[in-house]
Amino acid sequence: MKLTILGGGGFRVPLIYRALLGDRGEGRVTQVTLYDLDAARLSAIGRVLAQQAESLAAGTPTEFARPPEVTVTTDLDAALQGADFVFSAIRVGGLEGRAADERIALAEGVLGQETVGAGGIAYGLRTVPVAVGIARRIAALAPEAWVINFTNPAGLVTEAMSRHLGDRVIGICDSPVGLGRRVARALGVHPDEAWVDYAGLNHLGWLRGLHVAGRDQLPRLMADTEALTSFEEGRLFGAAWLRSLGAVPNEYLHYYYFTREAVQAAREAKQTRGAFLRDQQQHFYEAVARGDEPPLQAWDRTRAEREATYMAENREVAGIGERDACDLESGGYEQVALALMRAIARNEHTTLILNVRNRSTLSVLDADAVIEVPCRVDADGAHPVSVAPLPYHATGLVCAVKAVEREVMAAAESGSRAAAVKALALHPLVDSVHIARRLLEGYLNEHPGLGYLRG
Ligand code: G6P
Ligand code: MN
Repeated sequence: MKLTILGGGGFRVPLIYRALLGDRGEGRVTQVTLYDLDAARLSAIGRVLAQQAESLAAGTPTEFARPPEVTVTTDLDAALQGADFVFSAIRVGGLEGRAADERIALAEGVLGQETVGAGGIAYGLRTVPVAVGIARRIAALAPEAWVINFTNPAGLVTEAMSRHLGDRVIGICDSPVGLGRRVARALGVHPDEAWVDYAGLNHLGWLRGLHVAGRDQLPRLMADTEALTSFEEGRLFGAAWLRSLGAVPNEYLHYYYFTREAVQAAREAKQTRGAFLRDQQQHFYEAVARGDEPPLQAWDRTRAEREATYMAENREVAGIGERDACDLESGGYEQVALALMRAIARNEHTTLILNVRNRSTLSVLDADAVIEVPCRVDADGAHPVSVAPLPYHATGLVCAVKAVEREVMAAAESGSRAAAVKALALHPLVDSVHIARRLLEGYLNEHPGLGYLRG
């Protein structure tokens, strides 16, 4: 089975490869093709993967020791030929672009986060045309392939690609899985035994229940302050607010519920997240190219530092300390992707929280709107499970943000600046049409990739 990774020179590719190395089952991936625009990054990541494969081969009996063969290419069409699965994890404009999205937004007093608010819109405006171009190539060259989209803003990008690939593209995120796992742990329940009632859009969802053998355990958690504040989201939002909501929000809702403080913390921070990651990754890729340190060791050190500093400003706003040790171990991101791929490839029935087309799941949205909900997965793909409707306040946010996403897609399709301004102005975290216009000016001046916005 052939897996193609778009953005194959990306920093998180070794996580995926590590998960693949752990998969010894029948029908596993035997061939991995890394596609990237940047040959130097491909070569650095190729060296990390080679070392991962070597260390596995050193410790395993020979019958298991055949790691997936890795090839690298900067030719998209060649990468797609014969692919059974395509992972799309691209970053249009690079981390420099992410840092600019943040800087320009913060200068106007609004959030620049890569998936939320103005920053997410700027990133979406840059990414959608490229993702659509890729979707078209996949539809032409590998129409049978399943496409797993990691590219942020994941919900928006998945929906844009689904217009060309239908239900063959599925978006993934590890935040809801992590949330489910943390809530289960706080309840003393094994995550595999729990049915997580979660619904919303990507980075805009709520856990409304956690059922074990048909009984909702969330009320028990809500009643126990110590347990409720024993995990990341509980500490981030505080027991009182969780009780008011009657649900545990995705960590990204911190930007919505504590906007003023989040903006202030971001403005005061020494560096934005994008600038930090830009510098960090530049050091990593240079160090691997120079050969100063074994590539796998350099990668793992960098990864650990990235995990430790994830959402640091939000944690500072909430006055909570460092992340829990169990949250620092990665496993979410690549395990969701692997579980999804396995379920499809081997028809292993499973339930995962994924980004798929709504059909009739949330009645306030149309059938083609991509939403994030639990899905049953089998060889025919991911099928959203019917869930209870969202309460009004969540419905309001979900509809407002979906309207923004639709304007981004309209702008990407038509090149209309008015649509781009409308996307920015309609976002609940952008508080003035004037600011929306100034933001677009700022982004147009910064990003050559937005040159298509002419009309
Ligand atoms: C979480 C989010 C992802 C995001 C990742 C890394 O897992 O769900 O969407 O890509 O964190 O965030 P970072 O700020 O380190 O790039
Ligand atoms: Mn995510």
